[in-house]
Amino acid sequence: MDVSVTALYSEDAIAERVEALAEEIARSMPKDMVIVALLKGSFVFAADLIRALHRRGARPQIDFMTLASYGSATESCGAVTVFRDLSESVEGREVLLVDDILESGRSLDFALKSLISRGAKEVRVAVLLEKPGKRKIEVKADFVGFVIPDHFVVGYGLDYAGYWRELPYIGIVPAP
Ligand code: IMP
Ligand code: MG
Repeated sequence: MDVSVTALYSEDAIAERVEALAEEIARSMPKDMVIVALLKGSFVFAADLIRALHRRGARPQIDFMTLASYGSATESCGAVTVFRDLSESVEGREVLLVDDILESGRSLDFALKSLISRGAKEVRVAVLLEKPGKRKIEVKADFVGFVIPDHFVVGYGLDYAGYWRELPYIGIVPAP
């Protein structure tokens, strides 16, 4: 993809923030929580977060859910569906729902309701990034890595049209 990416958060800045988030989460969640990571965007964040949690004594079970929300490369339009579902039950469990970015709130709202409807005892939300002022649905994240300005960002799992997920840092791509 021939677009230029301007660095926003370096690898080091992300690593430091992930450690601090893990500290907060480990203090307020049980060791045997279930972590549900939303794919694809959160896979890098989740991988670092679970290891930081392990270092703080957590022994979670990990599950994944892939949601599909329809729209263009940089804007979703509303309808959210499950593309690949969880493989284990969350009934009676304390769940940490992990996503890459909270923007309109539609994906997290959908995932939260889905986990609650399946009997999760409590669901807390951790997001790497939050874009304020973009919410279409009221959803609150309990743990937030960085609050970012309203730019389209890529890297560390986040994509633009399927590209840039492998970037080790988070950068801004110019608006198309
Ligand atoms: P929502 O609008 O809060 O439902 O966010 C839906 C999804 O859109 C996120 O999980 C991301 O995968 C994607 N998304 C939103 N903003 C960005 C961005 O700036 N860069 C890359 N993906 C984004
Ligand atoms: Mg995406």
